[in-house]
Amino acid sequence: MVALGMARRIPRLGPGPRCSASTRPPQSSFANPCRTGAPQTGRRSCRPASSFRAALQILPAASSSRATRRFDRRYRPTCAALSDSCAACRSGWPRESRPEAFRRASGAGATPHRSRCSGDVPWACAGGMDGATPHLPKHICSNLGDRMSEKNIRWGIIGTGGVAQSFARGLHSLPDAELLAVGSRSLATAQSFAQALDAPRAYGSYEELVADKDLDIVYVATPHTRHKQDCLLALEAGKAVLCEKPFASSPAELREVMAAARAHRLFCMEAMWMRFMPLYDEVRALIAQNVIGEVRMLIADNGKAVRFDDQHRMFQPPAGSCLLDRGVYALALAQGLLGEPEHVAGQLSRNSRGVDEQVGLVLRYANGALAIMGSSLTAHTSNEVRIIGTHGSIHIHAPYYNPVKATIWTRPPKAPPGQGGTVRAWGARQRLMEKIKASQPGQWMLSLVEESDWPRRKGRRSVLFRPHTGNGYHYQAGEAMRCLRAGLLESPMMPLDASLRTLEIAESLLSGNLRPT
Ligand SMILES: NC(=O)c1ccc[n+]([C@@H]2O[C@H](COP(=O)([O-])OP(=O)(O)OC[C@H]3O[C@@H](n4cnc5c(N)ncnc54)[C@H](OP(=O)(O)O)[C@@H]3O)[C@@H](O)[C@H]2O)c1
Repeated sequence: MVALGMARRIPRLGPGPRCSASTRPPQSSFANPCRTGAPQTGRRSCRPASSFRAALQILPAASSSRATRRFDRRYRPTCAALSDSCAACRSGWPRESRPEAFRRASGAGATPHRSRCSGDVPWACAGGMDGATPHLPKHICSNLGDRMSEKNIRWGIIGTGGVAQSFARGLHSLPDAELLAVGSRSLATAQSFAQALDAPRAYGSYEELVADKDLDIVYVATPHTRHKQDCLLALEAGKAVLCEKPFASSPAELREVMAAARAHRLFCMEAMWMRFMPLYDEVRALIAQNVIGEVRMLIADNGKAVRFDDQHRMFQPPAGSCLLDRGVYALALAQGLLGEPEHVAGQLSRNSRGVDEQVGLVLRYANGALAIMGSSLTAHTSNEVRIIGTHGSIHIHAPYYNPVKATIWTRPPKAPPGQGGTVRAWGARQRLMEKIKASQPGQWMLSLVEESDWPRRKGRRSVLFRPHTGNGYHYQAGEAMRCLRAGLLESPMMPLDASLRTLEIAESLLSGNLRPT
């Protein structure tokens, strides 16, 4: 499903030879495209149609880059030929020729795609790159197999604002999700939302929505000052909850929600959508595989200047807070990649109303690694992340909360003079990369790969694309549905305690009571 480099450099452009038995990769990892007789322009041309289309979809944004122009000239002519795809899961592979990895994960292909796969590529079902943990690109596709219910999960939405609309659109890209109802403080608003976004039922109050017996789960999309009350409302009505970030205004509020969820034995999760982005699965796996060595530093910023609006929640206390609105992404990012910090330091700049408009954070970890992060409501920042290790780095391109592209640098470590360790260690690292790729051939085929020598850095650069299959909001919904089907009360990817830790750090910063955490 990923794509780190396989070829050392991009082959010469121009039409290549036709696929033949000798040039065609093994049937288990490549199947369909070569049978079309499409011109083969190097090994890459054997990738499935969906990966070409997906890569092409995101490439125009970077059309000025040399790599993009090379990609265009090399692949575009072949794309039209590679159109054989599965209508049910849009995988780009006809059922009989799905990659071996997917057939294995889904029980020898006995079940039609749709019951296993809710729209994402089938490789997602094959587990993590490390092969050991059942890792969760299955936010969408669960390989829980027979335990997975065939029934659609029916969603209700509380609130009709901007993010509720995006989420509703995201749900429509999951074939096994159903947007059943929406609740608003006003019936007219609920009806117009329902009409625009294809929800069959509309309610003029949140109480009526949660009382709908047919709902399986409620998505809370109100301002965070209401999250506690709306989550409790849903939980007490017996509904599972997916609640927008920040989960609550304070850790004390979240503890109440957690207690209710645990008392009622209902699934509950913070909708920290960034954590479920497929690219982060790959980044976590690369870090775990030690591809960039030991992580020493994480540098990230997220900021967008919001036009001042006296009435907007972002500029009104108590709802207004850069830390709670934007800073929680930074905290969740560091938490998801590096774990819990030992010490936290930070600075907030507040406006005349006492609303924090910018925040700077430094987190220190037990091994000495640092996370240095900034968030802003008043400035456009790069919205990028750099994860720097002893033997390389990972650059997650903007926007890091919804990313599709990362650049991975690996370089030979420095060895003590005269010991030749550099060469040996470098060779070992490259062999590790090859092993990672070889262990999941289907996954590595999915995305555009570009790898080249980079003499100035004496290292190697790989560009990894992991395009979305929907608008990005559906991944968190897919994870909630996977947990519901598996009978989980919390997501292992986003447990309640993780949300609580984030809020505890935020509270200590907001109250000025910085303390070791
Ligand atoms: N994950 C993301 O990418 C993302 C993006 C933006 C926001 N968010 C989070 O999502 C939540 C909602 O954000 P939003 O941008 O959608 O907010 P919004 O546009 O202001 O909408 C919030 C909705 O909540 C309802 N509401 C109930 N009480 C309200 C009150 N006192 N004031 C205003 N609205 C009230 C309203 O719906 P009715 O009138 O229909 O009841 C309103 O449309 C926030 O927690 C925010 O941090 C997440």
